[in-house]
Amino acid sequence: MQFETILQDNDGPVATITMNRPDALNALNGQVFRDLTDCLLGIAKDREIRVVVIKGAGDRAFVAGADIKEMAASEGAAPTGSERSYFGMHVYDQIRHMPQPVIASINGYALGGGMLLAMACDVRVAADSATFGYPEIKLGIFPGTGGTILLDRLIGPANARSICLTGELFDAARAYQLGLITHLVARDELAGETARLAALMAGYSPVALRETKNALNASMEMDFEAAREAEIAAHARCFASNDRVEGMKAFVEKRSPRFRGD
Ligand code: COA
Repeated sequence: MQFETILQDNDGPVATITMNRPDALNALNGQVFRDLTDCLLGIAKDREIRVVVIKGAGDRAFVAGADIKEMAASEGAAPTGSERSYFGMHVYDQIRHMPQPVIASINGYALGGGMLLAMACDVRVAADSATFGYPEIKLGIFPGTGGTILLDRLIGPANARSICLTGELFDAARAYQLGLITHLVARDELAGETARLAALMAGYSPVALRETKNALNASMEMDFEAAREAEIAAHARCFASNDRVEGMKAFVEKRSPRFRGD
């Protein structure tokens, strides 16, 4: 299925979403958010798809943030700041709550909402040529679509404050050091490493992947006791799955498991 501002390509169990506004360094305008919402809804329901990859079109950017030209043109008219927050947060939440694991494959600029888009994914693999940062402060705003909260939770308050308040950009080596990205590779190895990670997770039980995400999301969103209850419930669903039986049977029989996703 194709959309105005993004592309979806399915290759076996892996769906790749390409942010496709290269002339604007793949900046996020209202149509991108609408397209992403529809695309992700379709993928979440598709049991054939076991892993999702998000990448940027062209060789310069993953996503260079929200579309500044669109925001400049709105001049305080609708959508208001709070509407933008709710709308953006919804899309990033949607990614975090996808039943499939989502890999961000980051080739270049991942700024503002682009860095946030990457942070909403489960695994972040970046080329050594990638550049990160929250430059919003230079525009008189801040990453208020969940960007302060998610950065704070992912890398801790000290560095989150510095990144938000200085607006300084930083390279992939620094992002790796901060724990903002999970895999760092040479530029020409990005596609291969992304494909390797996708194939690896595509071989696992979809039930186990989904319930692992449920437990991790609960940890991020709930207090300790509530998160423990959520983890117990997720583990119970996982343990009751046919995939769990198959995984353990395959180990005992010294063969590869055939996970069906039930
Ligand atoms: N929104 C809208 N358009 C954007 C954009 C954004 N966030 N980021 C880049 N673009 C557009 C530029 O306006 C330019 O379009 P033009 O050719 O019509 O003038 C095109 O993408 C290429 O960008 P350009 O600025 O010419 O490239 P550069 O190599 O000189 O600089 C960046 C690259 C990323 C440093 C610079 O584009 C930038 O600072 N972008 C904004 C980043 C930002 O503030 N993001 C947070 C937004 S809330």
